[in-house]
Amino acid sequence: MDLYQYDDRLERPARTKMSEFSRDGRIRHVVFACQFDVKRLEVLHDVANKVREMARSREGAVKLANLLSYRRAMLYFTQPSTRTFLSFMAACQILGFKVGEVRDPRTSSFVKRESQFDSIRMFSSYFDVIIMRTEKPRLAECCAYLMNDLDSFGQRAVPVVNAGSGADEHPTQALLDIYTLQRTYSFDETSTHRESRYSELREKYPELTLGLDNKTYAFSGDMGRGRTVRSLAQLLAQYENVRMIFVTPDHPTLKLGADIRDSLIDRGIEVREANSLDAKVDGKPLLSSIDCLYMTRVQREHDTEQDVEDFAKLDMSGCQLTLERVERMKDFAPILHPFPRDSVYQELPTEIDTDSRAMYFRQARNGVWARAALLIHLFDVEHELDALYDSVATNT
Ligand code: NCD
Repeated sequence: MDLYQYDDRLERPARTKMSEFSRDGRIRHVVFACQFDVKRLEVLHDVANKVREMARSREGAVKLANLLSYRRAMLYFTQPSTRTFLSFMAACQILGFKVGEVRDPRTSSFVKRESQFDSIRMFSSYFDVIIMRTEKPRLAECCAYLMNDLDSFGQRAVPVVNAGSGADEHPTQALLDIYTLQRTYSFDETSTHRESRYSELREKYPELTLGLDNKTYAFSGDMGRGRTVRSLAQLLAQYENVRMIFVTPDHPTLKLGADIRDSLIDRGIEVREANSLDAKVDGKPLLSSIDCLYMTRVQREHDTEQDVEDFAKLDMSGCQLTLERVERMKDFAPILHPFPRDSVYQELPTEIDTDSRAMYFRQARNGVWARAALLIHLFDVEHELDALYDSVATNT
């Protein structure tokens, strides 16, 4: 048997694979966003909030730094990354992990023609978790199979976390996006003001409910090649009474993939598409009817020569946010962006940053707490965290 042959397994429909990425009811490898159901997302939200709160005090931070200090994490990031790499690093540091990294394959045995599977297998003998980002679609999935096969042969195997694979999935970004939305739609900036803020908003928007249900989510930009929207849309599809509107310039490369659109429709989601943020959808102006706007950049690094030629003639202004467009949005509707934003094309100009709906810097910071919560889940130490949390809370 050749351990490195995965083609048949990759071909299977996603739902038949899920059980291979869990063990004893816990997630073992993080490969796809749809491994997380609403219940698990709620649990992760509570864990993330506890870590966030504890990290504020010296006593809490010192306790957190002991939680997983006997573990080692490998950050294998051969594709450029700022936020995902650094927030995973920060999450690991907060929890006490010792961290190793390979970012530039030229500094590893890759230059001696070592396969990535051999490299991964080596990492699994030195570290306790492999967090990986690659330009190769589905490599993380293959690495999860490799670990399971090693395990079945009685060899050492560790969890694999997909931190972005090609243009297909970015599940941990979706986790932090959901965490940001959970916090936004609980309207609890300060607990004493929560009631008043929510009831104030309800006067203006009588249909507003707490939580992620009953909302219209709009996504704008490059839906064809952006992996963050693919992952997030699948998580949002699990909530009740959700609508999604995908706004892209009028070009097939940039439109939402048929696979993801069909899977959303199959799950009963109302899916709409438009070419401009100024469009009307089902007879209503888009911007004033949405509860969240998720902006993305055009992923120009994937352009073919034909794309470059076509895009030079294409009107993309319908997917650029302006202050005037923000003014037409609901008062509470968060503006999200996975970042980086494109400083030349400016789909999200900096003049919007001071608007109260601009959530993207907080969203990026939430990556630290959401990723720390995920690591706590993977290493099954929620109970230890609870005990530490209670001991800090009792002392203060
Ligand atoms: C995204 C990515 O790498 O997919 N960034 C991120 O992880 N926050 C989005 C992008 O590159 O446009």
